[in-house]
Amino acid sequence: MIRVVVGGATGKMGSTICRLIAEQNDIELQGAVVSSAGGNVGRRIAGGVVTVGEDKLDAVLEGADVYVDVTTPAGAEKNLLKAPIAGVNSIIGTTSITVEALTKFADAVRRHQVSAVVTPNFSIGVNVFWKTCEDLAMVLRDYDVEILEVHHGQKKDAPSGTALRAAEIIARATGVEKIVRGRDGIIGARGKEIGIHSIRAGDVVGEHTVIFAGKRERLELTHRAHSRDAFAEGCLAAIRWIWQRKDGRIYTMREVLGL
Ligand SMILES: NC(=O)c1ccc[n+]([C@@H]2O[C@H](COP(=O)([O-])OP(=O)(O)OC[C@H]3O[C@@H](n4cnc5c(N)ncnc54)[C@H](OP(=O)(O)O)[C@@H]3O)[C@@H](O)[C@H]2O)c1
Repeated sequence: MIRVVVGGATGKMGSTICRLIAEQNDIELQGAVVSSAGGNVGRRIAGGVVTVGEDKLDAVLEGADVYVDVTTPAGAEKNLLKAPIAGVNSIIGTTSITVEALTKFADAVRRHQVSAVVTPNFSIGVNVFWKTCEDLAMVLRDYDVEILEVHHGQKKDAPSGTALRAAEIIARATGVEKIVRGRDGIIGARGKEIGIHSIRAGDVVGEHTVIFAGKRERLELTHRAHSRDAFAEGCLAAIRWIWQRKDGRIYTMREVLGL
């Protein structure tokens, strides 16, 4: 049995992961962690587990195989180092964590010889989308690239981690490094740049479109998530892939999925 602790267990993503874990025969929810101040401590969730505050994270990590973090950038930065110190592998799905915090995390993973998966998107479709972005960018090098992302109105960060990752991948493939986040006012002609635009509306789970536009044509690649279960299923794949590795390394979903 793989014993998992989920940080952010009452959130939109965390509660979906906990619900799917409760339906598995080989994975069990050992701990469900929420913010100490958010009013969700002591709630019974999927699988009958009772939530605890972030101050109890060390205690629930004892004997666990994997810690999954889907919290907030500030929450994740408080929690990140605890799993490596406890000798527990991690899966970090939280987006917009600072480079400094991720660098400290990578050092801790190496020092304590545990393993981790860090990804802004667990879904199989989005990981194929990123790979296809790379393939298209290699061929359509001179085309203008614009990225559009749409998410529900409660999303805390913009642009999405998924859009930023697509931009990084395309920048690496084309050598166009300038990324422009939205445009406003007298902006003049477009230069060698990748544009990213964010829409926040209703209950959209997540949509990403990359436009490759040339002089006489354009090609658009779109991924639409219909349900958070698409992310949670990818997270389960990552849990099964990482739980027994102890090699001091950080992996991506591309490696988990063998893409
Ligand atoms: N990698 C992916 O595939 C993927 C997919 C979707 C979302 N995400 C990311 O996952 C994160 C969560 O998204 P969401 O939509 O689920 O957000 P959400 O609904 O706002 O949920 C956030 C959760 O984090 C908890 N939390 C806050 N601080 C915490 C701390 N210090 N320790 C433990 N738990 C803490 C909250 O608890 P309280 O309720 O007590 O405040 C809540 O349960 C975001 O960064 C989002 O971008 C990633």
